[in-house]
Amino acid sequence: MQQQWSAVDEYLVNALIPDDSIFEKILANNSAAGLPAIDVAPNQGQFLQLLVQIAQAKRILEIGTLGGYSSVWMARALPTDGKLVTLEADPYHADVAKKNIKLAGLEAIIELHVGPAVETLPLLAGIAPFDMVFIDADKPSNPIYLEWALKYSRPGTLIIGDNVVRNGRVTDPANNDPGVQGTRAFIEMTGNNPRLTATALQTVGSKGWDGFSIARVKD
Ligand code: SAH
Ligand code: DHB
Ligand code: MG
Repeated sequence: MQQQWSAVDEYLVNALIPDDSIFEKILANNSAAGLPAIDVAPNQGQFLQLLVQIAQAKRILEIGTLGGYSSVWMARALPTDGKLVTLEADPYHADVAKKNIKLAGLEAIIELHVGPAVETLPLLAGIAPFDMVFIDADKPSNPIYLEWALKYSRPGTLIIGDNVVRNGRVTDPANNDPGVQGTRAFIEMTGNNPRLTATALQTVGSKGWDGFSIARVKD
């Protein structure tokens, strides 16, 4: 199945997404630096960028930068006075991301904070509210990140969660993996929050079987 999912992704990406040497260079830099290939897929990056455009977002919060691949996809759709704040715990990942952000010419738009997100999130009150939040860091902390996303939101804010399916593991309440438990708590908190309209979509493709959650803060 994985081979077919990857073949379809390749077809769709070739047909729909313009070749862009910046994104190719970023992925090559990440690979050369030894970063894990857990960035979003190109068609997922384009999906995030479309959400930025549809939401007419000007301020975006990303939790989990890695090499900045998803950051660049989203930030590219921002106006010149837009801001994407991205949070990364690992200083080595952050160094690679800084180079990639510079390569993309987005130093003025992307603001990278190094340190565990629970320590950097409280520093962002002056920039909030955010129009869109992309949660893609350590999955056990997803419930905490959802609380911060809500705190820093306004009516209409979009909150996107990555990796909510992880090969179907999310359905097993007995799974002791803190990532699975964090994701389940995140999904349940989302569903139970009367301020949110939410759904989640399973995805298959070059990154395997996974999914996104999408929530909008009600008016
Ligand atoms: N959004 C990226 C992928 C992020 S991978 C993309 O699609 O291109 C997850 C990242 O979260 C990793 O770089 C990891 O170091 C970082 N991370 C893990 N725990 C974290 C924490 N507590 N605070 C902030 N970042 C964290
Ligand atoms: C992992 C993290 C991610 O954000 C992702 O998209 C895929 C995998 C991981 O920690 O394994
Ligand atoms: Mg992810």
